Amino acid sequence: MNNFVFHNPTKIIFGVDTTNEVGKEAKNYGKKVLLVLGQGSIKKIGLYDRVVGLLKDSGLEVYELEGAKPNPRVDLVRKGIQMVRENKIELILALGSGSVIDTGKAIAAGLTYEGDVWDLFRYRKPIKPTIPIGVVLTLAATGSEMNGNAVISNMETEEKLSISSPYIYPKFSILDPKNTTTVPMNHTLYGIVDILSHVFEQYFDRTEGAVLQDRFAESIMKTVIETTPKLIKNPEDVEARGIILWCGTNALNGIIGVGKEQDWASHDIEHAISAVYDISHGLGLAIVFPHWMRYVIDVIPHKFAQFARNVWGIQGDDDFEVGLKGIDRLIDFYESIGVPTKLSQIGINDERLEEMAEKATLFGPLGNTKKLTKEDVLNILKMCL
Ligand code: NZQ
Ligand code: ZN
Repeated sequence: MNNFVFHNPTKIIFGVDTTNEVGKEAKNYGKKVLLVLGQGSIKKIGLYDRVVGLLKDSGLEVYELEGAKPNPRVDLVRKGIQMVRENKIELILALGSGSVIDTGKAIAAGLTYEGDVWDLFRYRKPIKPTIPIGVVLTLAATGSEMNGNAVISNMETEEKLSISSPYIYPKFSILDPKNTTTVPMNHTLYGIVDILSHVFEQYFDRTEGAVLQDRFAESIMKTVIETTPKLIKNPEDVEARGIILWCGTNALNGIIGVGKEQDWASHDIEHAISAVYDISHGLGLAIVFPHWMRYVIDVIPHKFAQFARNVWGIQGDDDFEVGLKGIDRLIDFYESIGVPTKLSQIGINDERLEEMAEKATLFGPLGNTKKLTKEDVLNILKMCL
């Protein structure tokens, strides 16, 4: 295992009805709050009225930025930055899922940059200290509620890029499982795929000796795999929702990746697909990941065998063979829950594969397990068809 520093400053407030804490928490950071919202589901379920009421009861002045779409757009971020500047907002409060949180984080990052916010993503300009962000999470998926990452899309250039900074960790995140019971089943399942994929990115690497991280990662995988059918059976099962929610946060709050090389090539490939075709992130990952696994298994067959044995209970002596069976079991799992595992199943053909491979390798070869050139990415995309 490699040396590491672990510092995660986000305060987590977890549990049924912890939404009630929002006013008390938010008022620690000032009087003027920008509430960042998605496209309306939160209003339909009554959560919006409840949160605004709680904020006002705590004496806060609430401004609103509505409309963060899945694959959140830089245009809305620009609008948010302007609103924060004009109204001297002191706290950004994201009420929603990953796209809403990432919009809030990008607003905060762009606020203290004098040029256009897209420069932070496209030209990797340094991110400076900024105003605080709070979160009331409504969907288990990205881990954005407890990390310093944000992913934003630019539809003009068909790019979907990320930033990462210690300055955009949320100060607090409220994780109330009840708020996730209304997530439609397709987004619930895409979230589940995203959670598993975050674990895979940190688990399947070349680092040896990160025993605790591996076992924690395997526990998250097993917990997600055994809880998913319960959620499919009863989407309003608050306990199962809570289990998945906490898995999602732990999958990408840094803890399972400490001391590890990690990979992240599959995420970059997926971001290129969703930049061009505007598909859900988790859906793209369900398609890309198993093929990435087959492409790199020869580098770390023992790791894939460990996954197959410890997560799926597959037996056998030949690491490569056992590892391949583990990948097959993952595909079977995705198919059993009704998530597509091929681009052709979602109407994507070979027309723009080259372009996507180019976009994915914008900053150079991808990943660590096997350094993937544009040609490698193209090969993987062809396997995905
Ligand atoms: O917009 P509304 O109307 O709110 O509807 C949303 C949206 O349609 C709906 N939804 C959310 N909570 C709901 C609900 N519907 C009913 N009841 C609720 N309680 O769910 C849909 C999907 O929302 P979205 O925010 O797109 O999903 P997710 O949380 O999966 O976020 C995906 C985005 O995060 C990025 C992805 O690339 C994608 O852009 N990621 C961010 C990461 C990070 N910041 O660390 C890491 C990830 O790997 C990922 O790349
Ligand atoms: Zn992801």
